[in-house]
Amino acid sequence: MAKRRRPTITLDAPPSPPVRPGIVSPRRTVPAAIERPDYAATGQPSSRGSRAVRTADEIDAMRIAGRIAAEVLIDVGKAIAPGVTTDELDRVGHEACISRGAYPSPLNYRGFPKSICSSVNEIICHGIPDSRRLADGDIVNIDVTSFIGGVHGDTNATFLVGEVDPVSRDLVRATNAALHAGIGAVRPGSRVNEIGRAIEASVRGGRYGVVREFIGHGIGDQFHTSLQIPHYYDARHRTVMEPGMTFTIEPMITVGPADLYVWDDDWTAATISGQRCAQFEHTLLVTDDGVEILTLPIGTPPAEVLFAP
Ligand code: MF3
Ligand code: CO
Ligand code: CO
Repeated sequence: MAKRRRPTITLDAPPSPPVRPGIVSPRRTVPAAIERPDYAATGQPSSRGSRAVRTADEIDAMRIAGRIAAEVLIDVGKAIAPGVTTDELDRVGHEACISRGAYPSPLNYRGFPKSICSSVNEIICHGIPDSRRLADGDIVNIDVTSFIGGVHGDTNATFLVGEVDPVSRDLVRATNAALHAGIGAVRPGSRVNEIGRAIEASVRGGRYGVVREFIGHGIGDQFHTSLQIPHYYDARHRTVMEPGMTFTIEPMITVGPADLYVWDDDWTAATISGQRCAQFEHTLLVTDDGVEILTLPIGTPPAEVLFAP
């Protein structure tokens, strides 16, 4: 009798053990000569309002902060390999930042204990670097923000660790495409809600979710300003983009539903489904005729291209 074969349909990424909290190393120090943001000592950013449109000098400074963040992200990307701890990635990111004269913005921002965020597999964002070693087949998002010249630059990318399954690789590709679809909707005169509309259109058809609890944000002299950039369409976000506005787009895309919960550390956000999530982020400037990406390195392609799946 002929053997009957089941059709093999791979719906989900092969399961990997859930990510668990590890040990967080002592706080790293920043040389006294490096300029600090207002929250560095207290953990509390000032609550003063911030303008949505930046001055020419601020924009020049943001090009520098953005380039540094992009270069630090590449330095961390080069250190990613099976067996490396996320604490070691934090050390690399911290050193790369301070060696360029910049303060690593996450450090003590609202009490965050480390210099980068590292979010593995089903972790959506704000993962705290710790003693967990990267495993072959993991995906890991590294989020770098640098503060220099009085302003911040914020960028992130999702990296593959060793041999990664095709579902996860597709997720990472689709998420980078979603970021660029969102960037494509940035132009003066358009409304902010066009960005989320473009992101949703870009991921439609895949079995993906778009995270709603975390959104892009205005950025400049403050890490997060009141300007909100949802990654889904919301008619209420009618703010019209104007030349000189600076904000991030940073979609988090999940395999399966995007529902999340936050760990007891009050930072780490994870999918309830246990399925994986990817994210990419750039800091953008609205120009007279479109958009400029502020978080690009000089003389090398950005992390998302260098480490593309
Ligand atoms: N970089 C993150 C963002 O894209 C924010 C990190 S806040 C921290 O907005 F405190 F976790 F660092
Ligand atoms: Co951001
Ligand atoms: Co970020």
